[in-house]
Amino acid sequence: MNEVYWGDSYYDGAVSNFDASVIAAVTGHMNGDHPEDNLLIVRAFGHPGATGSTMIGLDNTAGLWSVEDSSGKHEVRVEWPSGAISERPEIRREVVALYKAACEKLGVPAREEHAPSGGEAHAHGAQDGASPHAAHGGHGASPHGHGAHGGASPHGNPHAKPEDDGSFSYQIRTATWGDHSDSEGSSVMEDIMRMRATREQYVDLVVQHFFMYEALEEAAEALAADERFAKLHPAALVRDETLVEDLEFLVGENWREEIKPVPATVAYADRIREIAAEGWLPGLIAHHYTRYLGDLSGGQMIAKRVKKQFGFERAGVAFYDFTELGDLAEFKQNYRGVLDELGETLDEAERERMVDEVRAAYRFNSEVFVDMKRG
Ligand code: HEM
Repeated sequence: MNEVYWGDSYYDGAVSNFDASVIAAVTGHMNGDHPEDNLLIVRAFGHPGATGSTMIGLDNTAGLWSVEDSSGKHEVRVEWPSGAISERPEIRREVVALYKAACEKLGVPAREEHAPSGGEAHAHGAQDGASPHAAHGGHGASPHGHGAHGGASPHGNPHAKPEDDGSFSYQIRTATWGDHSDSEGSSVMEDIMRMRATREQYVDLVVQHFFMYEALEEAAEALAADERFAKLHPAALVRDETLVEDLEFLVGENWREEIKPVPATVAYADRIREIAAEGWLPGLIAHHYTRYLGDLSGGQMIAKRVKKQFGFERAGVAFYDFTELGDLAEFKQNYRGVLDELGETLDEAERERMVDEVRAAYRFNSEVFVDMKRG
């Protein structure tokens, strides 16, 4: 077993059964022969605005890339599509599968063969690889009606573009991604992702979610009559029943008397209630977006880890089960489309105010994690 070099990220010390020489060979091959594929992969999996990327490591469950974008340098860990691997040939298979999944998400035609991305045999050429945007040219109209999200696949990631296309959802995502990284990198999230959180810590997370969603879903109900909002809030998204189910399982029948919010959760819920009382729709949507799109993204990764660590099936992690929502990627895409439509109705100052509220929402989440750690 070898330690994998994961840079300065929290994946430091991840253990792999791959030899350091294998890792060096794979990263060397990717960086030497497939630099455009690195970029495609990171753009598709979390860093749509990436301008540069190199592969810096891998282990049994994921590859690790270093990413550069307008907010600086980040690391992105992308899980292997087939789950855990242990044999060297599986690495190649998984990297190819990731490349193909990235092409599909970005609406870029994939190469037939796993040829070097800069070579003659390359179906979309190095230039297209570097700019998935270019491959979108000529494709159908945007499902959101303003062309900015036009892509080969109606299910493609609408953010799969290198440049800022002016869409509001793109603006929100890129302007707040640094705040996202802060929340994601908090030690509670880190412990859960590394499967070293205690059951008590996980239960406490569910408890904090209960108080957050109590406020969020009450506020949502109050604003449900607004049709701009109704589109974002189908019944299958509502989490209160799943939280009750999880708490009954995790805490017991008397769960309601046993649980308590940390101070940051109280402040977070207060802020949501304040926005609802004011009737500030974009502000509520900022909080709605931050929580639900998170649950549909990183939340799904959390659920996998928790299930595995604690042997849960549904009870205990019902909160993360959005089966009734249908295809999650498609839902997120439509959600972003509604954000874009909303953005078109707001002036620049109001758009910025909403982006600031998304930032505030991330901060509340990070502060909740800090309070949870304090105990
Ligand atoms: C272990 C912790 C986390 C991980 C691994 C994680 C991972 C990710 C990933 C990979 C995406 C991109 C998904 C995609 O493009 O389809 C994403 C998106 C998102 N995450 Fe997280 N996340 C974590 C924690 C959080 C937290 C704590 C929040 C806030 C409460 C959050 C909110 C969001 C939001 C709002 C998005 C959607 C961004 C957009 O596309 O506009 N995440 N997350």
